[in-house]
Amino acid sequence: MATDSLGAAKAAKNDEFYTQWPDIEREMNAYLEYDPDVFRGKTVLLPCDDPEWSNFTKFFALHFTEYGLKKLISTSYAPDANRNGAYYAPTLFETEAPQFDPSRDMANGKLFVLEAKDISGDGKINIDDLQWSYLKGDGDFRSPEVTALRDEADIIITNPPFSLFREFVVWATDGGKKLSVIGNINSITYKEVFPLIQANQLWLGVTHFNMGMYFRVPAGFVWADTYKFEREQGGVKVNRVPGVCWLTNIEHGRRHEPLQLMTMDDNVRFNKKLKGQPYQHYDNFDAMDVPYTDAVPSDYDGVMGVPITFLDKYNPEQFEIVGSFNAGAHGDEIGATKTEIVTNGKSLLWNGPVIDKQPQYKRILIRRRHTE
Ligand SMILES: C[S@@+](CC[C@H](N)C(=O)[O-])C[C@H]1O[C@@H](n2cnc3c(N)ncnc32)[C@H](O)[C@@H]1O
Repeated sequence: MATDSLGAAKAAKNDEFYTQWPDIEREMNAYLEYDPDVFRGKTVLLPCDDPEWSNFTKFFALHFTEYGLKKLISTSYAPDANRNGAYYAPTLFETEAPQFDPSRDMANGKLFVLEAKDISGDGKINIDDLQWSYLKGDGDFRSPEVTALRDEADIIITNPPFSLFREFVVWATDGGKKLSVIGNINSITYKEVFPLIQANQLWLGVTHFNMGMYFRVPAGFVWADTYKFEREQGGVKVNRVPGVCWLTNIEHGRRHEPLQLMTMDDNVRFNKKLKGQPYQHYDNFDAMDVPYTDAVPSDYDGVMGVPITFLDKYNPEQFEIVGSFNAGAHGDEIGATKTEIVTNGKSLLWNGPVIDKQPQYKRILIRRRHTE
């Protein structure tokens, strides 16, 4: 019980990580580079947001006219519903507005809308034209009113609470919408997510997840004892989260760039990571193990087991994803024959891939496509 509530508290704490402007800009620019009209005439929904805290609303409000947006909708979660909302204090933007209602301010979520209406009369459409009102409920993305906003939108963009990531992806993809969300790389292996990646309905964004991301954190944030990265960037308190990636179904150029490959022989000779060792086949499944993404060879036609990091370089015209191994966590995965292994002196049956009686962990199974 104690461990459970600690885990929940940790997850809730991570839910209050706010995305920095350059991270949003880099990702959106990649979509725009591929299709300059990607946002034109579109309604963009930013759920799990709050313009006072988040850069997403500010970013899209600033670019509203340039991107040709039809409507920008952003919703925030009620401080009372938020296990980590203790830091919350209403700002002047809210308290000075005629609709401000102290009796609803903590219990209700908020709805922010920007349309092509110059309400401030300054000749521009920008954040000053943002209108807000209270939602009927707490702004939970799963509520009927936020789900109705999802249905109205063309594109959903946010950094959702990490602890509800699976549910969020299911909710967003159920609506059949364009989507761009920040998540942890481990989410790729979730059974709710991996089948979408395999079916080419979801893919990684352009930001390399191996760099990690620095998120803005609330004032009272306490870093883990083991944390050894920057704690401030440009006067803003930040926390680095490794293995963070964007998951999207919006096109970008990187996923159409082919991965440059060497032959198997050249890899064994020149790829320092392989240390001259030949490729190995699994004992219990007909596939070859490729332990590093940069060791994927150009001349192997069978199925290859590659690390998850491969997805950062995945080009669907060059490879197909045929399955995965993750002890069932991916949902429908290719099953290896259960094989006896010995770890720590104990013998057990392992249903993942095995090489020389050693268990091999998460692997994505790919096969080269023949385009020539
Ligand atoms: C990781 S933060 C990101 C905030 C913002 N989108 C950003 O990137 O700067 C996730 C936000 O989701 C909110 N949240 C938590 N649970 C929620 C839920 N069930 N429905 C909607 N929002 C929720 C939290 O209050 C938090 O502000």
